[in-house]
Formats: sequence, C-alpha cells, structure tokens
Amino acid sequence: MQGDYQLQDYEKAVQNFKWSDTEKEFSWHETGLMNIAHEAIDRHADSYRKNKVALFYKDGTRKEAYTYNDMKRMSNKAANVLTNHSTLERGDRIFIFMPRSPELYFSLLGALKMGAIVGPLFEAFMEGAVYDRLSDSEAKAIVTTPELLDRIPVDKLPHLQTIFLVGESIEEDDKHIDLNKHMKKASAAFQVEWLERESPTVLHYTSGSTGKPKGVLHVQEAMIQQFQTAKWVLDLKDEDVFWCTADPGWVTGTAYGVFGPMLAGATSLIVGGRFSTDNWYEAIQEYGVTVWYSAPTAFRMLMGAGAGPVGQYDLSSLRHILSVGEPLNPEVIRWGMEVFKLRIHDTWWMTETGAQTICNFGSLPIKLGSMGKPVPGIEATIVDNQGNVLPPNRMGNLAIKKGWPAMMRGIWNNEEKYESYFMNDEWYVSGDSAYMDEDGYFFFQGRVDDVIMTSGERVGPFEVESKLLEHPAIMEAGVIGKPDPVRGEIIKAFVALHEGFEPSEELAEEIKQFVKKELAAHSAPKEIEFKEKLPKTRSGKIMRRVLKAWELNLPAGDLSTMED
Ligand code: PRX
Repeated sequence: MQGDYQLQDYEKAVQNFKWSDTEKEFSWHETGLMNIAHEAIDRHADSYRKNKVALFYKDGTRKEAYTYNDMKRMSNKAANVLTNHSTLERGDRIFIFMPRSPELYFSLLGALKMGAIVGPLFEAFMEGAVYDRLSDSEAKAIVTTPELLDRIPVDKLPHLQTIFLVGESIEEDDKHIDLNKHMKKASAAFQVEWLERESPTVLHYTSGSTGKPKGVLHVQEAMIQQFQTAKWVLDLKDEDVFWCTADPGWVTGTAYGVFGPMLAGATSLIVGGRFSTDNWYEAIQEYGVTVWYSAPTAFRMLMGAGAGPVGQYDLSSLRHILSVGEPLNPEVIRWGMEVFKLRIHDTWWMTETGAQTICNFGSLPIKLGSMGKPVPGIEATIVDNQGNVLPPNRMGNLAIKKGWPAMMRGIWNNEEKYESYFMNDEWYVSGDSAYMDEDGYFFFQGRVDDVIMTSGERVGPFEVESKLLEHPAIMEAGVIGKPDPVRGEIIKAFVALHEGFEPSEELAEEIKQFVKKELAAHSAPKEIEFKEKLPKTRSGKIMRRVLKAWELNLPAGDLSTMED
C-alpha cells in the first residue's frame, strides 16, 4: 500500500490499508524512536529536498523564503536558545503566543525538537483566556512579542519562569530573554530528543459546552495520519505550493499548517495579517498556490466581495481546494465551481481527532451537502445515546472507533473528562449529530451540545457566560449561537441585570467590550438582549435551549425541568 498516495481505489484501500503501512515512510519504523520535528524538517533537509522551499512567508512588511535546510538550522537554533536560557526539559509545557511569523514556526519546531509540549495560543487571546490555559497546564515558558506581554499575568502564574520575546530592542533580565538576539549567536546544530510513539507533542485548548477550555493532548504517533491525509486528502505532491489559511492557535494550523505538509515534504505558504479579499487573491497569484485549505466563512466572505476582484487576479494555478470547520453550503461549492472551475472538497474532523477523519477524496464522486467518507483506516458510524450502531439514514451521534493514530491521548489534568468522550470503551463520540446514507456518505446535522462555531472558531458558551457574570451590571447570562449567513453563527448573549442597572445601548456596548478585552474578540457577543429573567432549570442551570427557541421562534420543547 505504501506509495498509493493518490488513493485511486477508495474501496480497495478501505479493505487493505493498515496504518502500519504508512509508518514505513519514516526512519523510526526501524529504530522505534522518533521526533515529529525531525520527521517534518530534518529528514527532508538531509535529502534531495534540502534546497527546496519549505516555507514562504508573506505579510505587509516581510517577504521571506526558507528551504528545508534553513528550517532545520533555524529550528535547531531555536531549540538551543530554549534549552540554554530556561530550565525547560522534555515534557514541560511551553506556550507560543504571537502573530504568525517565521519565528513562530522556528520556536514551535525547536520546542518539539527538545521534547517539550507545545501549547499554541491564538494571538487574539486576552488576559483571562491566557491565564486559564497557562495555569491549567502549569506552563514553564512562553514565546511571545512585547506587544502581547501585558496580557500575560506573570504574577499569578508561579510556574512561568521564562518569557522569550520576539521583537525590537528587548530589555532582558532573569525572566525575559530576547529570542532573536540569542538565535543569531546560537549553534545551528542540535541533537534532537528521541521519543516514543506515545510521547506528547502539542496541547490545544478547546471549548466544550460546560466548564473551562480543555487541554487536548496529542502525541508523536499523530504524524502517521497527518502525513497520510496530506497525501490522500490534500493530495500534496512535490511540486505543489500549499496554503492553509488557519492560525496555529487552532488545530488546523498545526496539523495542516505545519505537520501534514512538512511531513510530506511540500512547500507551504504562510500569510500573516488579517483577512482581506485582495491580499488573499494576490497571495494565490504571487506564489502560484496549487492546493488551498480554508474555511466556509472565508469562502463566503470572498463570495460576498463579488466577481470583480476575482477578475483582477490570475488564480489559474489552483488545482485543489478544501474546506474545514463548518458546514460547507452547496451554494459555496457552486460559487467555487464558477470562479475557480474547481470543486471545493469538504473535510470533517476536530481538535480531538488530531487529523482529518471524514473527507471528500479526489477519487470519490462528491455528494452535495455531504462531508464525504471516512479516511481508510478510520471507522466512523452513527450511534444512538446508548452506543448502539444505527442503520443508514438515521440521525444520531457521529462516532469514531477508538484507537486511530492522531486521536487525542488525554485531557490535561482531567482524566474523567477524557473518559467521558468514549462510549462503552469503543466509540469516541464527537458531539456532532449526523447521518450516513446507504452509500456510506456522512451528512452533518449540527452540534448535539451548545458549542458555538463562529467564523470556524469554536467557542464554549460557558466560558463567555462566566466572563459576563464578572461584569458588575450582570446578574444572569445565557449565551447561544445565532445563525448567520456569513459567519455560520454569531454569539448572542441574553442577560438579566442587577437592581439599579438599566438596559441601554451604551451598556450593551460596554459589555461587549468587556468580554473582548478579557477573553478575545471572537468570543465577544455580537448581540446582547436584556431580559428581566432568564429561563432556568429548578437546579438553577440556564436553559440555552429555550433561549435558542426564543431567538428562532421555535417551540421550546419539554419545559418540565424549568423553574416556575
Ligand atoms: O461541529 C464540528 C465542526 O467543528 C467542530 C470541531 O471544531 P474544532 O475542534 O475547533 O476543529 C475545527 C477544525 C478541525 C466539529 O465538532 N466541523 C468541523 N468540520 C466540519 C464541521 N462541521 C461541518 N462540516 C465540517 N466539515
């Protein structure tokens, strides 16, 4: 099977493929010891790909290119600085909290080379969100920029010993280290830490419907699936220029912004800065992007910008486009057909799955509205609430048979939560509802829980509600996702005020800013509705289901548990 990278015969692969076949791609197949950064970078730097560009970087002010050999040297230098200027050891947590830049990638790979566990943080996170993640994981070090420094509450984080700063004229002391300055002098040679299959690599915090964000832990072995899907699903070949638009703060930005394409030895483009129609089309034209991985919200924004901008750029280099994160509307697929003369391929997976699991492959006919079929080696099904497998065309819980290579291996500090994802110790239950048709295609129906997907970003209502309750005016808060034609969902908050406070537009604005300042812009409610009182269960839990029904003018369903 090894070498059948085009997945020409899906059915045959489903029957014959074993993940152990993919392992033969890597040298650790013989030694048993590995390091994902070695496999993604050094392995190619020591091959015919040595002088091939691994990373193009472009933003407003910088335009750079790094070969696999450059990436090896720079990540080695980063690894040396991280090791020599902190007490960081194998297994310790280091966070990377900065806008996309080459230094972000050097540090991430360098940290992995020395065996640390990397927690990537989206640059938009504010103090409260940063604190929750660093304190839960007892992070020892962080790589950041001077601009973001005041969002790191150092005094409240006793484990945080070292802050590596990337920027101009940095003042150093025991705790603050100028990364670039030391990288200039550091050796470009580094002995990577050799690790085991189950050694942890990346810790991605993500939201559920209850509780604080959870640290989803991934391990070395995920590389098997990230590599294989980069071949089968992204269809990456040596001559491709691949652009994944996701930030490494989210799982797409690590699994397919770093690992997948680099394990496959491809050339990746990283575009810094914010979304803009012209910048995006220009990037495709300038770098001759051939394979492009983005999200429905971005496609809808491009679609909204109309045909005008499309005509101004040469986008003919594109040969394969993929989407992830939210339902891909048939309307968007039709737009893609018109504008790019290509079908957009949907892929379904999540932070917890660590890599793509249900996808549309080049060799499969696409059914509009379907996310595709399971990746060979993945067993997916629909189960009822007891874990019984349901027949085709019945809606239920989308579940995956436990034990795929990229599966999360733990929730940081929370074994009980981790166990709760698995039903009968057999099925990982995703929290999505879906059905499978008689041909084995899966169709997404929605979240089972109250998790909000806004612009492809996953937001837990509980985290937002908790923050709202910290505002002096707010007595009760309930947060839901409200359907939105561009963003999929927007965050809407219902709030009841303490005595002495009156609803007003100014107060609504102040509340939005409060959440924005404390958590992150993407977690802030776009709409606030004031209520005298919120619907609660007798035990005092806000009934988001009822809020949603109010919002959508739908029947509220069973209200037997609601307080009088
Ligand atoms: O609800 C599903 C939605 O995104 C959730 C996972 O979010 P996150 O862990 O942030 O990972 C996003 C990207 C890997 C899922 O539970 N989702 C993801 N892909 C799709 C999707 N919903 C519909 N169609 C998809 N293709």
